[in-house]
Amino acid sequence: MQIREARVEDATATAEVHRRSIRELCSGDYSAQQIDAWIAGTSKDSHLALINNPELRTYLAEEGGAVIGVGVCSPKQGTVNVLYVAPECVRAGVGAALLERLEKEIQATGGCRAELHSSLTSVSFYRARGYCERGTDARVLISGIDLPCVSMEKQFDAVRHS
Ligand SMILES: CC(C)(COP(=O)(O)OP(=O)(O)OC[C@H]1O[C@@H](n2cnc3c(N)ncnc32)[C@H](O)[C@@H]1OP(=O)(O)O)[C@@H](O)C(=O)NCCC(=O)NCCS
Repeated sequence: MQIREARVEDATATAEVHRRSIRELCSGDYSAQQIDAWIAGTSKDSHLALINNPELRTYLAEEGGAVIGVGVCSPKQGTVNVLYVAPECVRAGVGAALLERLEKEIQATGGCRAELHSSLTSVSFYRARGYCERGTDARVLISGIDLPCVSMEKQFDAVRHS
């Protein structure tokens, strides 16, 4: 598996992984209406906007030329914004490797903690990666539909790379 920065030509593949991950992995925790609203925000164009946004860093995981995971962070804001792994590739270290890369980006800008809104599905994963819950009543509004999530954070020592 290789982790590398996403390029504009990867947007179709990263959007596809994003959609499949939500549909196949999160359906046990969210209604069909919530899943549909969530997926509506995962078009190729929305991924192009992520990849082209100079405030964000978008990374992907690939294996044998196929995209198997995508992660996005805002180093300046110290947030992990997106983290999704292809359903057939879970529990193989892909999410952990992407998250580590995103955390390094935040640390490289002097950030001493990472914040995120975890889906209900991925709270155990983030706990295992050292994140603590900041409250259980967080909500994200997508396309007018409320998606319950969990606000989490992880403290780390600031490291500056010259
Ligand atoms: C959450 C997600 C990114 C984790 O990716 P992953 O590649 O499966 O995770 P990893 O294999 O790197 O897991 C690392 C460790 O986290 C923990 N972990 C991961 N998934 C877990 C789960 N579902 N339940 C409990 N612990 C979990 C385990 O300790 C695991 O180590 P182990 O497999 O050796 O026990 C992935 O499952 C996913 O895309 N989920 C659906 C989409 C989603 O909700 N994304 C987050 C949006 S905020």
